[in-house]
Amino acid sequence: MSDEHPDLRVAVLLSGTGRTLQNLLEWSSRGELRAEVVAVAGNRSRARGLEIARAAEIPTRAFLLSRHESRRHRDAEMWSWLHSHDPQLVVLAGYLSLLDLGSCGGVPVINIHPSLLPSHGGEGYYGDRVHRAVLEAGETESGCTVHRVDAVYDRGEILDQERVPVRADDTVESLARRVFAAECELYPRVINAVARGELRLRG
Ligand code: GRF
Repeated sequence: MSDEHPDLRVAVLLSGTGRTLQNLLEWSSRGELRAEVVAVAGNRSRARGLEIARAAEIPTRAFLLSRHESRRHRDAEMWSWLHSHDPQLVVLAGYLSLLDLGSCGGVPVINIHPSLLPSHGGEGYYGDRVHRAVLEAGETESGCTVHRVDAVYDRGEILDQERVPVRADDTVESLARRVFAAECELYPRVINAVARGELRLRG
């Protein structure tokens, strides 16, 4: 933390394994993240990522669609809980749902996607499906993209990208490993740039 730019208050949304959250917490414990994870919300009660957050004593809650009239209602309740933790940035970390921004109150939301957007993004492009599409398209390069979140999957303004080679003998698994390793550097780097005021996200 520097006097000029105190740590950014970040909330994380996730659906699954929480590897992305785990990476942010590791950066944080090494003192390399200019952000504090102040709340973690999920849309699945059994997401391992929520267990990781609880183990780190971060306020955690699951917001299940089945308990709400609509996604908009669910997201409004989730936003209300998130606002109670006063985040300055919301970070999607393997959050597999559209997020209604109607109640975001001007808090910017970012996501990381495992391809070089605008290629291989959009509804249905997540996890291994992305890497399979990259291999089937015969790409020689892939990577990851951090982008603003808007009302359409993977379409918001691109903030930064990290490129990795696609090798002739790559499998979905080997490419996924290489891309995720790049994500583990890119996401904290972008969050740090926001925290330092080098990257300005209008609400
Ligand atoms: C990664 O593919 C990332 O690009 C996407 O979610 C995956 C990570 O999810 N946003 P998790 O952190 O393992 O749950």
